[in-house]
Amino acid sequence: MLLGLELLTLHFSEPLAYFFAIKDKRIAEVEAEGYKPVSIIIPTYNEGDKIRDKLLNVMKSYPLEYAEIILVDSSTDNTTEVAKSLGIPIKIVKEKERRGKIFAVKEGIRNASNDIVVITDADALWDDPLIDAIKYLKGEIGAVSCIKRSNRGTENAYRNFYNVIRLSESAVYSTPIFHGELTAFRKSLLSADEIPNAGADDSSIATLIALKGYRAICTKVRAFEYSPKGLDYFSWKTRRGLHLVRHFIRFLPKVMRSKNRKYKAIFLEEFYLHLINPWFLVLGVVLTAIYLPKLFLFLLLVLLIALVIPQTRELVKAWVPNQFFLIMAQFKALRGE
Ligand code: GDD
Ligand code: MN
Repeated sequence: MLLGLELLTLHFSEPLAYFFAIKDKRIAEVEAEGYKPVSIIIPTYNEGDKIRDKLLNVMKSYPLEYAEIILVDSSTDNTTEVAKSLGIPIKIVKEKERRGKIFAVKEGIRNASNDIVVITDADALWDDPLIDAIKYLKGEIGAVSCIKRSNRGTENAYRNFYNVIRLSESAVYSTPIFHGELTAFRKSLLSADEIPNAGADDSSIATLIALKGYRAICTKVRAFEYSPKGLDYFSWKTRRGLHLVRHFIRFLPKVMRSKNRKYKAIFLEEFYLHLINPWFLVLGVVLTAIYLPKLFLFLLLVLLIALVIPQTRELVKAWVPNQFFLIMAQFKALRGE
């Protein structure tokens, strides 16, 4: 019964092989042509303690005279009052009831006056100027996103791995996963009504744009996001996983029908990484434990060593639990949560 061992080998070697196969690809540099008018949409639900820093960060990142800032708000706290107190022009779209981030984003897009639309979470901060991302929005590139960093070492190890993959996929053609911290696209290519009402709005935008024959790329602009700790981290990661699981299941048939082979290959790889590969870890562990107990103990020792070595410690701490979050997310998706 070597199957367990084979599954474990596949589980770890496939992502690494993908990583090393594409990691050196680079997106062609683009010169910024100067500032363009943009509409910056911030969906807000009770962000009274974050919105001030968020708006200051946006103002630092892009000149206000070129930015139309739109808050789509369903808060019950003082978010809009704090926003108004800054004394800058802000369009506030008040929602009658809370309907979730996607509805707010779509409402924001309908209210945007400019072709370049930028969507960003209230709890995310941009490290770099926005222009370094949106300068790519021309010609065959229809949507751009960012790479991410977090306040937690473990989350960062996971991010650093995926940041390289996102950038490399973007250089090859497009990446099917975008980030809510910064998602920008050309409104003339995609209308709000086309965005599905469930799943991940950011990744939906990326995939819809790619299916229309334009590229959706992550740029080197970095965004910071605050990751919760302890049990909150667990449910936070599972919720994110659920969005991605729904995203991949929804778009798989459409991508399979598309004629773009480069995009198909990237999408299928990510589908595999998020929906199939996690099972190989679980099955591999169970089968090895049952049929090859000595080897199992040896592998446990290897795992413990990897947890002690600083270079591998954080990645292992992030990778292994993440596989369980993705599996949990699949159960939640099946139960229709
Ligand atoms: N108007 C409105 N109504 N805004 C909302 C609602 C709502 O019902 N729910 C959430 N928001 C706002 C929040 O105030 C925040 O600005 C943004 O939407 C994201 O909400 P979070 O609660 O911070 O989401 P998250 O951190 O779990 O997930 C985010 O990041 C993911 C990964 O990049 C989201 O942007 C996801 O879409 C994204 O996939
Ligand atoms: Mn958040």
